[in-house]
Amino acid sequence: MEIKVVTEDILGINTPAIIIGLYEDSKELDSVAKILDEAMGGAISQLRNDQEIKGSSGEFTLIHTLGRIPAQRILVSGLGRKNNFDLNTVRALMGNASRYLRAKGILSFCTTAYGIESGILKPVGCGQAIAEGAILGTYQFHNYRTNKENQGNTEEITIVSRESDLSGSLEIGVRQGEMIANGVALSRDMSNTPANDLTPSKMAEIATTVAREGNLDITILDRSNMEKLGMGALLGVARGSHQPPKLIALEYKGDPDRPKHVLGLIGKGVTFDTGGISLKPALNMENMKGDMTGGSSVIGAMKAISALKPKINVTGVVPTTENMPGGDAQRPGDIVRAMNNKTIEVINTDAEGRLILSDAMVYAVRKLGVSHMVDIATLTGAIIVSLGSVRIGVFGNNQEWIDQVVRTGNDGGERMWSFPMDDDYGEQLKSTFADMMNVGGKEAGSITAAKFLSEFTEGVPWVHLDIAGSYRMSVDKGWHVKGSSGGPVRTLINLALADSF
Ligand code: BES
Ligand code: ZN
Ligand code: MN
Repeated sequence: MEIKVVTEDILGINTPAIIIGLYEDSKELDSVAKILDEAMGGAISQLRNDQEIKGSSGEFTLIHTLGRIPAQRILVSGLGRKNNFDLNTVRALMGNASRYLRAKGILSFCTTAYGIESGILKPVGCGQAIAEGAILGTYQFHNYRTNKENQGNTEEITIVSRESDLSGSLEIGVRQGEMIANGVALSRDMSNTPANDLTPSKMAEIATTVAREGNLDITILDRSNMEKLGMGALLGVARGSHQPPKLIALEYKGDPDRPKHVLGLIGKGVTFDTGGISLKPALNMENMKGDMTGGSSVIGAMKAISALKPKINVTGVVPTTENMPGGDAQRPGDIVRAMNNKTIEVINTDAEGRLILSDAMVYAVRKLGVSHMVDIATLTGAIIVSLGSVRIGVFGNNQEWIDQVVRTGNDGGERMWSFPMDDDYGEQLKSTFADMMNVGGKEAGSITAAKFLSEFTEGVPWVHLDIAGSYRMSVDKGWHVKGSSGGPVRTLINLALADSF
């Protein structure tokens, strides 16, 4: 898809369609809509007065211009209420509108830059949101279709601005949005790819390509490296699989003057989670190909960060393995020793994410010097019960860092909700035979999982994002399409861009 910015008179543009926006609660048409309305003999205002156009969010009205202006159609899209209007409205609208037009075979079109003329939005942010919404909302994953005859995909979007001094800023935003969306798309591709192809070795290969293209340092630990480092928790999970485990570390050094200031992104990379000996039921098990979405989020974010080049150090760590039953698989009751020497009684082999993350977190702090951590993991079915697929569950050990991550996520539309971490919850993990068990009881499963992880933070500010509900979408909506959401890739990128810890 190509996204262009032009400064042109809206009445002179020859295009199959032009998108304009209307608010629900503002009777006045904005200046662009007014110009088009007049050229169309009042068609837009009449539809509005007849209540056929309400301006509610998600509403689309396609008006054919029948030669009155060079543009062949006007797509009037509802923006919702004016005081709810923000960049996420634009992002969602562009996804919905691009798919709406694509379904009618319209693959090239123009759009106005919403909210800029009224000053509600800044042009860089608006350009970025338009690009992100359009690219992510038209994302397709066709790698496994033999019949490639699909309807095609959006080819060209032109943002029309009336003032040339806004065009430059819109353009900067568009290029930024493209880099970010490409990072998200990489994560979606990995997450949608089935586990027979997306093995731990394949993840390492993709990370190697990202490192080469983005000039990142990369380290890939294999089984023998892990043994030397004492990563017994990660190795225990990997025992059941014929696929060798890998631990991938990508380092972006954007601020060499502050070597001790390093954002660490740690992503769960279970390329398939059968549950292991504590085998999962068959129903919906295919979705466990996406149990590496924390890891792909980190790799996608590192790709975008290496392109955006912010002045900050960011290190991504992805422990990756399958969780399979097998003759040498770990058993319930086995006791493993993590890299920080803590011993863990494995009560349930299906609670494998926390095991592989524990070694990765210790490694990130001790060997790679990360000073602030965010881990991202499809960790617990319980978070789906609490939050559904709407919000990401947030846990942590440092209120300021939690607040910052939650704010960043919510601002970008990757909505989050933070949970309590009272020590009482941790009592569930007490083991008769080891330092801790890997599962608690039936209650508060997402919190006890986070409590487990909190034993491996090595004293640095840490936030845990449980994305088991949000890593996968069941419908096309806004900038999401059915299949992998890509994970909170944009939040991770925005944390790096903000650098405010
Ligand atoms: N990968 C799963 C969590 C999950 C469930 C992700 C559904 C996406 C959708 C995780 O490894 C797991 O199996 N967790 C167990 C923990 C339990 C054994 C304490 C769970 O949630 O059932
Ligand atoms: Zn899992
Ligand atoms: Mn599991």
